[in-house]
Amino acid sequence: MRMYDIITKKKHGGELTDEEIRFVVQGFTAGEIPDYQMSALLMAICLKGLNRRETATLTLSMAESGDMLDLSAIEGKKADKHSTGGVGDKTTLIVAPIVASLGVPVAKMSGRGLGHTGGTIDKLESIPGFQTTVPPEIFIKNVNEMKLAVAGQSANLAPADKKMYALRDVTATVDNISLIAASIMSKKLASGADVIVLDVKTGSGAFMKTKEDSVALAQAMVDIGTQCGRKVYAVITDMNQVLGTAVGNWLEVEEAIAVLRGGGDAELREVSITLASFLLLGCGKASSLTEARHLALEAVESGAAFEKLCELCERQGGDSDYIRHPERMRKAAVRRDVRAVRDGFVGEINAEEIGMSALVLGAGREKKEDSVNPYVGLLVFKKVGDYVKKGEIIGTILGDDESRTDASEERFRAAYTWSADPVSPVTPVYGYVDCDGFHPVK
Ligand code: URA
Repeated sequence: MRMYDIITKKKHGGELTDEEIRFVVQGFTAGEIPDYQMSALLMAICLKGLNRRETATLTLSMAESGDMLDLSAIEGKKADKHSTGGVGDKTTLIVAPIVASLGVPVAKMSGRGLGHTGGTIDKLESIPGFQTTVPPEIFIKNVNEMKLAVAGQSANLAPADKKMYALRDVTATVDNISLIAASIMSKKLASGADVIVLDVKTGSGAFMKTKEDSVALAQAMVDIGTQCGRKVYAVITDMNQVLGTAVGNWLEVEEAIAVLRGGGDAELREVSITLASFLLLGCGKASSLTEARHLALEAVESGAAFEKLCELCERQGGDSDYIRHPERMRKAAVRRDVRAVRDGFVGEINAEEIGMSALVLGAGREKKEDSVNPYVGLLVFKKVGDYVKKGEIIGTILGDDESRTDASEERFRAAYTWSADPVSPVTPVYGYVDCDGFHPVK
C-alpha cells in the first residue's frame, strides 16, 4: 500500500477502504508517513469528504493508536460527558456529582484550558491540594467505591489525534465536520465509557458558530458512537454569551458550588440538569427524560450532589473546607466593577472576547506550557436582552495587578454590543441529537 495512491484516490473523491485508513493512521502515528503527505490527504478529505463508514473507521483507528482505557473492572454502565468547549462552562463540576450521587459510575478524563476556553482540570486544581494525576488502579478503585473520579488525560490517549490536530492547525484543515467529529470521538472512545453525553456548543464563543453546523457535528459524533457500540446523546447548547456568571478557575468552582446548593444561575442550572438527565436516561437510571430530570433535581435539592463533590475533593487530596466555605478562598488583589456608559439593551456578547478578557488576567493559557492563575477572572452580570442603565455594573474584573486588569477591562467592554431596541434573551438548550436525529426543544 502506498500513501501516494491513497492521496490520489481521495483527491478524485474515491472511498477509502478500512485497510487504507488504518494504514494511514498507524503509519502517521509511527512517524513512517511524513507530515507533507498527511497534510495533502487531510486537505483532500476537507475538499471531498468522508462517508459514515470512513469516518467511523478513522475514529476507531485514532482511538486505538494509544492507550484504550479498560473500565471493565467498574461495575455498571459507565458515564462520560464532553463539551466541545465554551466560556464559563463549568457543567462537569455540577453534572458529574449529580449523576454519581445517583449511583451511576462516572470515570471522567478531562483536559486543560487553551485559548479562550477553560478546562475542568485547571478548575479542580484551583482547590488547594486537589490532585488530577491519579494512577489507573486508584482511579478505578475510586469509581467503584464512590462512583466518581476525575483525572487529566493520559499523555498516550489517542496520540494519532494529537499529531493530526497539530498538523490540521497549521494547514487550514481544522474546519471539517468529519475530522472534528473523529478527533473528539477518538478520545471519548479511548476513555472507555458506555454512555457518552456530548454538549455541543453553538454561537460566538464556540467552535461551531451556527446551529446548522452544530447539529451536523452532533449528528456525526452520535453516528460514530452508535457504530462503535456506545450510547450517545448530543445536546446543542448556547455559547452566544458566557454560561452562567463566572469565568476563571476558582470563580467557576464557586459558581458550581452555588448551583449544587440549589441556587446559582438559571441557565447554568438548566444546561447542567439537561446534561445530567441524558446521562441518567442513557445509563438506564430512568425510563424517560422527565423521570431523569426529576431525579437530577432531587439530587441537588437533597444535598446529595453537593456532598458528592466534597467527597470527590477529599478522595483526590483536596481540602473540602473550601467547598463547604468558599468564602475562605484567597481573593484576587484587584476588584474592579465595569459600568455601562449608556442606557440600552445588551444586543450581543462576544463570548470569545470575554474568554480572552479572562485570559489576559492570567486565568487561561495562550500556549500549552503556560501556567494559570487560579484566583483571577470575571463576573458577567448583564446578559443578552437585559436592559441596562448608564452607570449600572455590567461585570466585575478580579485581577492580580492593575495593568492586566486594564487590558482585561478593554476586552470586556469590546465584547458587548448595545441596542436601543429590545433584544430577546438566548435559549440555553436548543435541542438534542440521538440515533433517530435532531429533536428541537419546543
Ligand atoms: N476539539 C477537538 O478535540 N478536536 C477538533 O478537531 C476540534 C475541537
